Amino acid sequence: MKVTVVGAGAVGASCAEYIAIKNFASEVVLLDIKEGFAEGKAMDLMQTASLNGFDTKITGITNDYSATANSDICVITSGIPRKPGMTREELIGINAGIVKSVSSSLIEHSPNTIIIVVSNPMDTMTYLVHKTTNLPKHRIIGMGGALDSARFKYRLAEALGAPISDVDGMVIGGHSDVGMVPLTRLATRNSVLVSEFLSEDRLNQVKEDTKVGGATLTKLLGTSAWYAPGAAVSGLVQAIACDQKKLFPCSTLLEGEYGLDDICIGAPVILGKNGIERVVEIDLSDAEKEHLQTSAEGVRKTNGLLEL
Ligand code: 2OP
Repeated sequence: MKVTVVGAGAVGASCAEYIAIKNFASEVVLLDIKEGFAEGKAMDLMQTASLNGFDTKITGITNDYSATANSDICVITSGIPRKPGMTREELIGINAGIVKSVSSSLIEHSPNTIIIVVSNPMDTMTYLVHKTTNLPKHRIIGMGGALDSARFKYRLAEALGAPISDVDGMVIGGHSDVGMVPLTRLATRNSVLVSEFLSEDRLNQVKEDTKVGGATLTKLLGTSAWYAPGAAVSGLVQAIACDQKKLFPCSTLLEGEYGLDDICIGAPVILGKNGIERVVEIDLSDAEKEHLQTSAEGVRKTNGLLEL
């Protein structure tokens, strides 16, 4: 199993590290445009192999896509991260050109690959990869919901005073500070609905804290987060690489599901060896449906800024 990670910045390097530590991939190629940067990150990571007990071979390369040839899975993290006070959508001017070029270079050397998009604004970048590569829709996945759901569970556990291992919940919709749809109605504490424990006001606060989870960290860190994004995308890679048939919320091209068409937005999907095995349509409340439609309007507005 060969995985390429484009972008050796904090998110890309964290993703490579978590993939290696999980030890399911034979090879991870880390590529960056900055001379020697990916090579240095790969060497540093390989020097943890004996300490962290993995056999995955991590190699770094500077802007030579021939080294990525025949990758089973390619992760695109390249582009600039946001600064405090910025929205993800404001990154489109620079990141769209980068993602378009990177995705073209990747499929030139790996025509059968599955692409996972992390670069922001992620839903729009995922849509751009569809338009650029024309790969089958099951082989293009946007990573946002897995990260947002992890932040949702963190906030729920905090509110419940419960261990995170007892908490389950999902965030669908756009990966944006205003467009996320945390499904508090369905969230559970070991199979018990969290609404049995938390008031509507407290659940609304959990929702709001989840939606700005990324912005909260950007304000503290001065740049975008990287541990949780890296871990989230490594979970998607593992589900595909190991054919786990796991359900994740991912940005996927909808063609009528949830009443939405020609848009990439967070929806529950089953991930396996073919990438998106299927989109899962769950029954949403009227309020959830409305929130998802509003979220889609926001994603479409950002999509409209693309020069396709
Ligand atoms: C985040 O929410 C980088 O969009 C990513 O942290």
